[in-house]
Amino acid sequence: MESNLVEKIREAGARALEAFQKAASAEELEAARVEFLGTKGQFAKLMKQLGTLSKEERPAAGAVANQLRLEAVEAHQAAAETLEGAGSKAAWLDVTLPGRRPSRGHQHVISRTAAEICDIFAKLGFSIVEGPEVETDYYNFEALNFPHDHPARDMQDTLFISPELLLRTHTSPMQVRTMEKNKPPVWVVVPGKTYRRDSDISHSPMFHQVEGLIVDKGITFADLKGILTAFASAMFSADTKIRLRPSFFPFTEPSAEVDIACVLCGGKGCRLCKGTGWLEILGSGMVDPNVYGFVGYDPNEISGFAFGMGIERVAMLKYGLDDIRMFYESDLRFLTQF
Ligand code: PHE
Repeated sequence: MESNLVEKIREAGARALEAFQKAASAEELEAARVEFLGTKGQFAKLMKQLGTLSKEERPAAGAVANQLRLEAVEAHQAAAETLEGAGSKAAWLDVTLPGRRPSRGHQHVISRTAAEICDIFAKLGFSIVEGPEVETDYYNFEALNFPHDHPARDMQDTLFISPELLLRTHTSPMQVRTMEKNKPPVWVVVPGKTYRRDSDISHSPMFHQVEGLIVDKGITFADLKGILTAFASAMFSADTKIRLRPSFFPFTEPSAEVDIACVLCGGKGCRLCKGTGWLEILGSGMVDPNVYGFVGYDPNEISGFAFGMGIERVAMLKYGLDDIRMFYESDLRFLTQF
């Protein structure tokens, strides 16, 4: 008789667990709860019958009943949580919402400025060529008319790899390489990376230059001025004035530093141009006859000019930036503005 009651309790427990697990909706689960755990449910009825057992049998049977009821309560709770989870997932998962796309990258401001500079010269008839960043002393200095002990080598804080190999300090070695390979006329621009041991707000150990070289019959200093004026108006604004100042480079004679009228104050004088009204953008000059000697050109037949500009510098002037290091910090808040 007593074992019969305990058996019924065990059966009720098993059926309760099964019912809670099978419940496919909150309504079904609630019906099962009322059936097994309600005040008039199966557990309640069976537990009332515990009173009919003898004093000796009651404690053990009561313990079994309590344990099974507890398991049923826990199973009900777990089932309720599962159903609720599924329900709330349906609420936040809106499959009709458009997805979040990864943001699209774009050209770096330096690459873009380089391309812009090259485009302007391409329209003027120049070809675009590139050359090695690891250079020999010969192309970087010697053939550009820097003798071994010439003090002008100190103008460029060179990063040497060996006594004969170095990281090019400018794109000018490509003047020599280009003339070695081609007969005049030569019209080239050379964009690329250059290196110097120098680092501060306006200098970076790696930076970019665009070199330009024309060698042809009858090229004069007036052509140099005309081409660079055309460049300045295309790159900055149509009425941008340029100014040439005498300068020195071993591979050009005469040489000139080229300034543009300050992009900020237009020439009145401000903080950017340090009150001068002018901003330096490039070095230039007529190719020195000594350089023609290294490449087998006859200076009596041809003449030419060369120029070299810093791409970072052009970009800083164009966009009004004051710290060269921003170009290399990969900060998207900076880069996405261009
Ligand atoms: N190579 C020079 C520099 O880096 C610039 C330059 C190029 C000057 C061509 C004259 C002619 O400073």
